[in-house]
Amino acid sequence: MTQDELKQAVAKAAVDYIAPKLERSSIVGVGTGSTANFFIDYLAQYKDDFGGAVASSEATAERLKKHGIQVYDLNSISEMEFYVDGADETNEHLELIKGGGGALTREKIVAAVAKTFICIADESKQVGILGDFPLPVEVIPMARSHVGREIVKLGGDPVYRDGVTTDNGNIIIDIHHLDISRPVQVEEQLNNIVGVVTNGLFARRPADLLLLGTSEGVKTIS
Ligand code: 5RP
Repeated sequence: MTQDELKQAVAKAAVDYIAPKLERSSIVGVGTGSTANFFIDYLAQYKDDFGGAVASSEATAERLKKHGIQVYDLNSISEMEFYVDGADETNEHLELIKGGGGALTREKIVAAVAKTFICIADESKQVGILGDFPLPVEVIPMARSHVGREIVKLGGDPVYRDGVTTDNGNIIIDIHHLDISRPVQVEEQLNNIVGVVTNGLFARRPADLLLLGTSEGVKTIS
């Protein structure tokens, strides 16, 4: 199976998992990226059976609306059962690196609100120790050099993602070669750097359920 076919399989599995649990008032949190896009396309067939969605990016909001799915501002939502999103890497504890698409801040906010975070990923994303994928950090533009220097002190190599502005008007620094053998600690250290808005480690709030696309089928890991 190609990587795209694996992504489609997990996207469909996520829809099959949540659809029977959705009520007419349910709001679904929706992530960003190619796997999340497949999820949106499958979810659309149930658009009359649930209340609508909260999007983790402008791109996702646009795709949801194109399908006729109502998109809500997170501030108007009091409860969200599910957040479904892809990942750049996952370890066995369902701790993740996210933000390859630059949407990490809104993704982390929506994940924080949801009762159940379902991660959908193809098997290439499963790793022993996080960190081969450069860790994205969203940074206030004027803090770029300061944050870069602090990242070097932590042992990482910061690389400015040229030409990218996030939906929140900020920049992205990707950290290469960082030791992430203790993800919760690294997430907190990065959060403590002044000028960092969010980092792409989802360890303090990992996924609750991983639907992993493999050549033997979709594996459910919790
Ligand atoms: C976007 C993300 C995505 O979930 C991550 O980059 C995976 O993307 P894809 O599903 O295209 O492989 O975190 O910010």
